[in-house]
Amino acid sequence: MSEMNLPLVLVTHTLPEGWLSSLDGHCRMIVGPVDAIRFAPELLENLPEAVGIFTLLSIPVNETILSQAPNLRVVSNMAVGFDNIDLAACTRRGIPVGNTPGVLTEGTADLTFALLLAAARRLLEASQDAREGRWTTWSPAGWLGADLRGASLGIIGMGKIGKAVARRATAFGMDIFFTDAIPCLEIENDLGATCLPLDDLLARCDFISLHTPLSTQTRGMIDEKALRRMKPTAILINTARGPIIDMQALARALREGWIRAAALDVTDPEPLPRDHPLFSLPNCLITPHIGSATWNTRRRMAELACQNLLAGLQGRHLVHCVNPEVYQK
Ligand code: GLV
Repeated sequence: MSEMNLPLVLVTHTLPEGWLSSLDGHCRMIVGPVDAIRFAPELLENLPEAVGIFTLLSIPVNETILSQAPNLRVVSNMAVGFDNIDLAACTRRGIPVGNTPGVLTEGTADLTFALLLAAARRLLEASQDAREGRWTTWSPAGWLGADLRGASLGIIGMGKIGKAVARRATAFGMDIFFTDAIPCLEIENDLGATCLPLDDLLARCDFISLHTPLSTQTRGMIDEKALRRMKPTAILINTARGPIIDMQALARALREGWIRAAALDVTDPEPLPRDHPLFSLPNCLITPHIGSATWNTRRRMAELACQNLLAGLQGRHLVHCVNPEVYQK
């Protein structure tokens, strides 16, 4: 087949060399810039011809985009989360949407634990103090933090990543509590974890870690009321999605001592503006959405996203499809 007869795929963001090589010979690609935050103009003008979209969690695929793409047969998101995509609009049009679960579970759980430990042991403050000349002696009562052994960890959302975090916490001697849409005896038995209603978990746990997808149910779930239920010594970790937490309420909670600290890999919005109040708080550690940022993990996410895309172009079922109802039509 000549190149011009191959289906057109819009890749919203430049990826490192070789990450899309499994698509070679199967499609023509138009690739957006490396710092894309939305569909670039050269992608927008080619929407009418596009058969596939390969995109990232930071780039919305909404009704405006979809309505300009009458030939679209697949949307492949290089992420496990898919809140950037208007799923209902894709389903209405019979367009399967692919995601990349599984391959980023351990990497994201590692980062969650890195944040948990960093917040527990106040690494942000300690490191800044060391660099800026406030480390004058070995100080018996300086930079005291929290122990993990014997502390309680509350996991909100016991999916793959939540469970991987629980396994790490067990090794650190923590007591594990969780809340999930479906309380599950099997999880309790397998992980020695206790299922609690959300309000009880918030009031009881020393560390609280978020692992739910962003949905209408979870948006704003950690609001002022939830923060005020937590212990004044509680540490909150978010490696899921920023809008699950009300950022303004969190800034007040950290400033006024309703809770002790937070460590966030995701924020609302992303990126968080440099003058955001959370950046001025020493008890708030913020990283730029790097939960899956290891070479292996990101490479495997790209591979899986390519497999989903190819399946969609070829009319096969996606390896991981988040709206399988499109196949019932
Ligand atoms: C990361 O946040 C992902 O959804 O893959």
